[in-house]
Amino acid sequence: MSDLAVDWRVKLGNKTDYGIGSIGCGGIVQYAHMPAYRKAGFRVVGVYDIKRETATAVAAENNVQTVYASVQELLADPRVEIVDIAVPPWEQRDIVRQVAAAGKHMLCQKPLSDRFSEAVEIVEMAESAGVKQAVNQQMRFDAGMAASREIIQRGLIGRPTDAQIQVSCQTPWHMWPWLASAPGLEVMYHSIHYLDSMRSLFGNPQWVTSRHSRYPEQGAVQGETKTITVLDYANGLQALISVNHYNLHGETFATFRFLGTEGAIEGTIGLLYDYPNGRADTLNWRQKGQEPVPVELDELWIPDAFIGPMASLMQAIKTDGIPATGSRDNLDTLRVVHAAYRSAAEQRSVRPEEVQ
Ligand SMILES: NC(=O)c1ccc[n+]([C@@H]2O[C@H](COP(=O)([O-])OP(=O)(O)OC[C@H]3O[C@@H](n4cnc5c(N)ncnc54)[C@H](O)[C@@H]3O)[C@@H](O)[C@H]2O)c1
Repeated sequence: MSDLAVDWRVKLGNKTDYGIGSIGCGGIVQYAHMPAYRKAGFRVVGVYDIKRETATAVAAENNVQTVYASVQELLADPRVEIVDIAVPPWEQRDIVRQVAAAGKHMLCQKPLSDRFSEAVEIVEMAESAGVKQAVNQQMRFDAGMAASREIIQRGLIGRPTDAQIQVSCQTPWHMWPWLASAPGLEVMYHSIHYLDSMRSLFGNPQWVTSRHSRYPEQGAVQGETKTITVLDYANGLQALISVNHYNLHGETFATFRFLGTEGAIEGTIGLLYDYPNGRADTLNWRQKGQEPVPVELDELWIPDAFIGPMASLMQAIKTDGIPATGSRDNLDTLRVVHAAYRSAAEQRSVRPEEVQ
């Protein structure tokens, strides 16, 4: 068995002490943003939430100095150099408008918006204001995805021919009560991560074909909860994303497989084996005719991958570059998301560039 050194960890830039101000202090901030930033040594200087008691509790738990009474107060604080937005998507645009007007850089939550035209507006607001804007599309920094990307880019599986992410689990929908009424659910809020990861591995697909279904007993949850999406690439690569959130009785699994002409990658997305606690990802690399080589991964999607988008945004600010999950690029992920909905509704394959 040969050793395979894969450098999959998130890279911090050369300036990481930018002052961060958080808007929205709900679940994802509590169990993902704050633990990730603590681990990375990032500096959260203040927080705001429309529910003051939520902001106060988050500040106390994470040693954050200031609880603001309003967005305006947060933006007026000169210590805040980056605004970390984590509110429901329909609240995001108005906050972005204020952050851009204040000339501050920002990390937005995914999806930028559930409407494509509004997402474009959000991107344009930041571009007109000349501030950096990244999207918290952090799965591409997840250990299993980052290691796969390096292995693929080093040519270690040859030419990729078949990519699959298959998830069959029991999702705790009660954690996001506001999602119950979302007309578009699975692809917009969950598979968006897999679609973005596929784009980070293989680029933009040529065609998107998607089929959506619901579980007969999903109660108040309105949107689709079981989906199959196929991405066809110009070079013949075909990607499958298959997700079922109502595996109530079978063995749950969350796997990725990337097959090529010279080898293969097989792994698991540890987080989804017990969301949001999970376990570390696993990954094996197989070279043609050889035994599988395990790559040791000791991190998992939540919270570790959440360091990635913020670190990359900081580096973009420092170097006047573009963050890895920059919002302009993220519009291509949203094009694939909306193409999936159009495909399911119109029962046909859709080119992402149809979404404008
Ligand atoms: N990147 C990921 O993997 C991931 C995972 C979960 C959620 N999210 C996204 O994060 C966002 C928040 O999700 P959550 O699970 O934390 O939801 P949540 O309901 O737990 O928290 C949302 C918080 O925002 C606050 N809020 C609402 N409107 C506000 C406003 N106008 N100003 C200030 N605060 C406001 C609420 O009081 C609440 O505390 C959503 O956009 C969601 O899609 C992303």
